Amino acid sequence: MSITELQCIACGATHDVTTSQLVCSACGDLLGVRHDLERLAAAHPDLRETFEARRGEMAPPYVSGVWRYHELILPDLPAGAIVSLPEGNTPLYRRAAVERYLGIDEVYIKHEGENPTLSFKDRGMTAGVSWARHVGARQVACASTGDTSAAMACYAAAAELPAAVLLPHEKVSAEQLAQPICYGASVLALETDFDGCMAVVKQLTADGRVYLLNSMNPFRIEGQKAIGIEAVHQLGWSVPDWFVIPVGNAGNISALGKGLLELHRLGLIDRLPRIAGVQVSAADPFYKAYAEGFVRRVRVTAGATVASAIRIGDPVSFDKARAAVQKLDGVVTEASDAEALEAMAAVDAAGVHICPNSAVAVAGAKRLRGEGVIGHDERVVIIATAHGGKFSKVALDYHLDPGSVRANPPRTIAPTLEAVHAALGL
Ligand code: F0G
Repeated sequence: MSITELQCIACGATHDVTTSQLVCSACGDLLGVRHDLERLAAAHPDLRETFEARRGEMAPPYVSGVWRYHELILPDLPAGAIVSLPEGNTPLYRRAAVERYLGIDEVYIKHEGENPTLSFKDRGMTAGVSWARHVGARQVACASTGDTSAAMACYAAAAELPAAVLLPHEKVSAEQLAQPICYGASVLALETDFDGCMAVVKQLTADGRVYLLNSMNPFRIEGQKAIGIEAVHQLGWSVPDWFVIPVGNAGNISALGKGLLELHRLGLIDRLPRIAGVQVSAADPFYKAYAEGFVRRVRVTAGATVASAIRIGDPVSFDKARAAVQKLDGVVTEASDAEALEAMAAVDAAGVHICPNSAVAVAGAKRLRGEGVIGHDERVVIIATAHGGKFSKVALDYHLDPGSVRANPPRTIAPTLEAVHAALGL
């Protein structure tokens, strides 16, 4: 008997875990993975010791920062079925300059950009692609603002599964576009925005011939849970006061919340952190809904922003994310492009190269500190979701603009020692 089942988040109907149907057949809403935590705890009384012992592993799958926590991720998936690059094991950067910038004494940046395809999506994708192959999927697809497609194309290539990615035409960075092309996926640029791509991929995958790997696939969420689990493990199982995370399609904040709640229920942590979701002002339906007290689901048409990976007007995992915020005494805030760019420059200059989407979370933490929501003496973990190297145009545009507060433009000079001396003030 499996430890895991699928349960509809709206009507509660349960579904067999091996179905390739990824929405509720009774009401059409999202499915969530539900583990029988009591059975899990009874079968594995020493999970902390198991996880600790696996830190010494050198080989896949348990060298992975996702599969180290196999029992909490997909306990029914045999270890031999795992497709792992490996992923995870991302650093928690602590930089005094970042702490000074934010006015918070203890800040860690969990840099998910240091995953193999340079974003946190690898954690969800190792789970999603492993499960897809396990249940016999023949072809996989996703809609994406650029990072999901890179990760899916890479893992599908590793698993030798054909992959199709649906991207909003000219709305992803050049580096993000190159990734699925290089990994051999069918790359389709749709003349619409992300929400339009999402609508088409749902239709494409509805008859079951093509397996859906967007984060509405509940198995992806299970892999993404490992961000929070690994961060808490790195902190010696001591729980920070806050996790701050950018929100787009709202899968990642849902995963963060689910993982932390499960750790708590299993007794692996003794208290719960709070979470702060941050949206960019140009695409802020989740923030707007929060500000109204979550009385309704808000949808917007997402506008242009430097944080193009979170340019999403109708987040698929809205309801899961709302539940996570409510259960973790969370807050939601927003930040403008200008605030994000300044935050990005500040963190980058501390030697931690983050992307504009991650910078939205940093700017959100700054706002929350300014409003007194986050205290200066609280311990804060900010999730940086992708590497700055995926968004070089945004960084260069910022630094080449003389109006930018932290601009650090290159200077073109004569090829002489004198000119170098003069440039360096020596
Ligand atoms: N940061 C980055 C770099 C992202 O790529 C995304 C989402 C997010 C944050 C937001 O995470 O959607 O779980 O709330 N990118 C998706 C994609 C939508 O297609 O790559 P979320």
